[in-house]
Amino acid sequence: MTDTSPERRKLAAQLAQAGALKTPAWRAAVEAVPRELFLNPGVFLPEGAQWRPVTAVGSDPAEWVRTAYTLDTLTTQLDGHLTADQVSEPVAGLPTSSSTTPTLVLGMIESLDVESGHQVLEIGTGTGYSAALMCHRLGEDNVTTVEVDPEVAARADAALETAGYSTWTVTGDGLLGHPRRAPYDRVIATCAVRRIPYTWVRQTKPGGIILATVGSWANGAGLAKVTVNEDGEAEGRIIGPASFMQARSQTAAPVAGDLSARAAYADSERQAKVSPLRLGEWMPAFLAQLAAPGAQLVRATTSEGAQLLYLFTPERESFATLTPDGESWRVRQGGPVSLWDDIEGALTAWQEAGSPEITATRLRVTPASHQYWIDRGPSLRWEHRIA
Ligand SMILES: C[S@@+](CC[C@H](N)C(=O)[O-])C[C@H]1O[C@@H](n2cnc3c(N)ncnc32)[C@H](O)[C@@H]1O
Repeated sequence: MTDTSPERRKLAAQLAQAGALKTPAWRAAVEAVPRELFLNPGVFLPEGAQWRPVTAVGSDPAEWVRTAYTLDTLTTQLDGHLTADQVSEPVAGLPTSSSTTPTLVLGMIESLDVESGHQVLEIGTGTGYSAALMCHRLGEDNVTTVEVDPEVAARADAALETAGYSTWTVTGDGLLGHPRRAPYDRVIATCAVRRIPYTWVRQTKPGGIILATVGSWANGAGLAKVTVNEDGEAEGRIIGPASFMQARSQTAAPVAGDLSARAAYADSERQAKVSPLRLGEWMPAFLAQLAAPGAQLVRATTSEGAQLLYLFTPERESFATLTPDGESWRVRQGGPVSLWDDIEGALTAWQEAGSPEITATRLRVTPASHQYWIDRGPSLRWEHRIA
């Protein structure tokens, strides 16, 4: 087996230079844990709109090591089942498990503010690489990691054993946490969630920290860091943008069928006051999800080739469509919720408040709701009640 300590030292130096790696203990973990052990049987590398399988077995060893030590996210599973050893040609598919870019993994882990002796719960074991880093730092008995996909969990468990860590790899839905080993000092999710499940708050000690990406759009999710209070609520803020694959049970099914038929009968029609193109920017996309929780955004083109944006509520009973209209946009809305009114209102209030960064967003998690606010005026508050 190739000794990859030089690559690990180089990776640590790159991460330190990028500002993702800050403390000696985590640097030691990066230098100690071989990332390649966690990539079996192989990875899918992007090739145009497809994925090229690259397996450890059969690859040039030097090339394989180079792949393992890129700063890229390395996709290890497509469509909930496919691994790189099962195909020989590039394939289409949606990533469903990966070794996340070490820049994000280490950036997040550093933000967790762990101390020796802390008990950590990780949601989304994936390859097991991030769990291995935490085992190196905290000891294998202090790390519990939950993975929803049994095959992914089994591969991660085997890789962790090979790396020398007999940690608590649990197969199950991490949205429920893992009560048997609770309470935890820290909870970290490496998949995105629509909202922080209150079960995580219940399973965290007072003073403990939960770190999770909240949002459900490919762009526009925020990394929430909340501290659990004595009263059982958790409060904190969004500490930056982050992008992760969605927790499996929360992955929205694509809006199927004839979209124009779904949006055929509008209750109102007007000129938009804010361009929907702003939803291509991170903070406006984040705000749109605060104003219209769970809404799905679909980009399409009309039969004449013009741009067309659809927004649907989760149950699809309300919609908004936006189409270019000269210099402006025309919005049609239908159903009980006026989606674009809500999103436009949030974007307008945010612009009037000086367009604060995502990090100005504060968050409180209670058993009954998620409350978000930006301290720049009464309009910048949103409450998502838990049904
Ligand atoms: C981006 S990967 C995790 C990266 C991983 N921590 C690593 O370093 O390799 C996200 C993982 O979360 C898992 N996942 C998705 N939904 C989950 C859920 N509800 N509970 C537990 N794991 C989940 C996916 O199967 C996937 O393996």
